Amino acid sequence: MSSLVSIDVEDYYKVLHPRPVYLIVSSCDGRTNVASIAWVSPVNDDPPVVALAINKDTLTSELISKSGVFTINVVDESKVSDVWVAGTVSGKEIDKVGKLGLKLIKSRTIDAPYIDGCLAYLGCKVIRSLEINGVNLYIAKVLEVYVRKNLFDPRYGWNLYRAKILMHSSGRCFTIPGKVIIHRM
Ligand SMILES: Cc1cc2nc3c(=O)[nH]c(=O)nc-3n(C[C@H](O)[C@H](O)[C@H](O)COP(=O)(O)O)c2cc1C
Repeated sequence: MSSLVSIDVEDYYKVLHPRPVYLIVSSCDGRTNVASIAWVSPVNDDPPVVALAINKDTLTSELISKSGVFTINVVDESKVSDVWVAGTVSGKEIDKVGKLGLKLIKSRTIDAPYIDGCLAYLGCKVIRSLEINGVNLYIAKVLEVYVRKNLFDPRYGWNLYRAKILMHSSGRCFTIPGKVIIHRM
């Protein structure tokens, strides 16, 4: 007999977590903001395209819709407090970059900075967007990618023994990679 039980479909996304949570930096007209976003998905590798689902009422949506650019910053467990603040307070209320004391660095090709101390960042430019019931789905081309070279190898990806990439489970609960499984034929 099956041991599965039915839950509310509105809770489906909790079943799909844990998944990495990223700090998204957006910038427009001299205003720069940071927010935590977990609903990020690769779409294609050639051309490199990524999709993000971001609530329409956020400052992040406002800035990205105006500027068309943003950075996706990969962070580790040391940034959990920053992720919590960036994900629970709106930049419409406070200057989160200042409050968190984040040092921002100019990206190479796009007009949005990245966060000093991140494990990696992707510089992205929006190519399409659509609104679905109050959520903006941004489809963006990845124009530049920088990684910590001691933690990432393009042949194998992240060194999971060393890169403690922060993932969000649900509510206040986060996790990091705990076991490495190498599948051998
Ligand atoms: C761990 C975590 C993950 C989140 N992921 C998303 C997400 O994928 N999409 C979204 O719209 N909001 C997400 N949020 C909520 C936003 O970060 C939150 O609304 C934030 O206040 C928006 O800030 P802004 O108004 O400064 O852009 C998340 C929050 C947390 C704590």
